[in-house]
Amino acid sequence: MRLALWASEDDLAAARVRALAEERGHAVIAVTPGALGADATDLASWVLSAADLDACDAHLVRALPSPFVVPAEGEDAAGVARRAFEAQERVQLAHAALAAAEAKGARVVNPCASLPFEGKPSQLGVFSRAGLPVPRTLITSLPLAALRFVDALAAEGVQAIAKPLIGGATAKVIDGAARARLSSLGPAPIILQERVPGDDVRVTLVGGAVLSAVVIPSATLDYRDDPAYLAGHASYRTIELPDATIALALRAAALCAHVVSGVDLKRTDDGRFVLLEANAAPRWLDIEEKTGAPVSEAVLSLLLSRPT
Ligand SMILES: Nc1ncnc2c1ncn2[C@@H]1O[C@H](COP(=O)(O)OP(=O)(O)O)[C@@H](O)[C@H]1O
Ligand SMILES: [Mg+2]
Repeated sequence: MRLALWASEDDLAAARVRALAEERGHAVIAVTPGALGADATDLASWVLSAADLDACDAHLVRALPSPFVVPAEGEDAAGVARRAFEAQERVQLAHAALAAAEAKGARVVNPCASLPFEGKPSQLGVFSRAGLPVPRTLITSLPLAALRFVDALAAEGVQAIAKPLIGGATAKVIDGAARARLSSLGPAPIILQERVPGDDVRVTLVGGAVLSAVVIPSATLDYRDDPAYLAGHASYRTIELPDATIALALRAAALCAHVVSGVDLKRTDDGRFVLLEANAAPRWLDIEEKTGAPVSEAVLSLLLSRPT
């Protein structure tokens, strides 16, 4: 078979899938979405980032062209704006290429139906509508609404946290200084949530099965701020999930149309699980290497199987 791996060059999980696929005699082509300047389609054939997508039976999508641009040194505002349009144009082309592949019967992981659920607001919205347990949440750019939300939680003795709608920063506790900054919030919205105390749990799902469920111990609110994690010394404690929590994680992934998903949960001291998010391109290699969970093998098997 011929696999397309849409991934940045430093994506170790994608590199592992590639190595396993090649060991078994499959052809793999790299689609490096950051590589500019060689995109084309006549609506029958598709080339993206110089990769010929037509003969591919399966696509593992770990990264798409980025819609963001960082100003180059000395670049004027018009230049940045032009590149921002160009970036959006490449996003559109990539989405269309994936839709074409899927329509042709290729296995696309995660499927195109997952694309609208890349953002936290759409995920939290769909989880909430489905009645899944998510933290009490306010997404707002309004200072007064933000302050009321934080103060109402405080009156119950519950802390609030803030996190961005799009990545780029870790979650932070709203302490006195952060509360004061809410007065100048806007025009961009932020996500405010009740702080759910407890363990951080990452569940890695592949094709409807739990491949790994681990607690990630940390001394910080967001485990990615923990010095040990930052130094590459994260440790993982494999746990057994109750059936209801497996069902919760599977439901969260299904609502986002993920067939591969990294579901983040909090586990409280009294054993409740609260859903934070589902990641379409989870990092699993460190977990795999430290716990032995065979995630890469399962992802490859999924890619080699026919779409249902
Ligand atoms: N409401 C919350 N209560 C407690 N911790 C949280 C909360 N939201 C986020 N966190 C912490 O921050 C981490 C990152 O938040 P998450 O929602 O998974 O976003 P992302 O991983 O995309 O930044 C979580 O794994 C958890 O450690
Ligand atoms: Mg997360």
